[in-house]
Amino acid sequence: MTTQAPPAGRLAIYPGSFDPLTNGHVDIILRGARLFERVLVAVLVNTDKRPMFAPHERVDMVREVFREYPNVKVDTFDGLLVDYARQKRATVIVRGLRAVSDFEYEFQMALMNRHLEASLETVFMMPAEQYTYLSSRLIKEVVSLGGDAHGLVPPLVEARLRERRQA
Ligand code: PNS
Repeated sequence: MTTQAPPAGRLAIYPGSFDPLTNGHVDIILRGARLFERVLVAVLVNTDKRPMFAPHERVDMVREVFREYPNVKVDTFDGLLVDYARQKRATVIVRGLRAVSDFEYEFQMALMNRHLEASLETVFMMPAEQYTYLSSRLIKEVVSLGGDAHGLVPPLVEARLRERRQA
């Protein structure tokens, strides 16, 4: 196999539900932003799950948190991830791996995406240890039962979660 220089301006897509953005997601985005020229956080719109936050609210939160990072952008997507990646001319999909329990699902998705688009590479990154137990689902559960999300999500997301609980 020959080694080729990476294309200039490599764009990595970080897809997910982000309902809501957690400190684990933030950690992965920051790692991605150090590795790739640009990171596009892609919020899935069409999901069977009943979300706590509408797609535009999730996008706003990511945008606000990464306001000072010019190489981190956020967008929504619908349909197949590979189609969206082609449309954006992305070469990499970034996914976080927290624990062995994530592996099977992530492995299936990565190989399915490779089957659909062989030139798109999935890159897995591990978040800092203190975030390995974090998930949006658990955070929503804790907050809806009156628990505290402090330190688990960015302060802005914590405020939005509090507003949502009071509403
Ligand atoms: O944060 P999540 O819910 O784990 O993210 C899952 C996501 C959005 C990455 C995945 O469901 C996805 O890519 N959906 C788009 C539809 C698609 O392309 N499906 C085939 C991929 S195997």
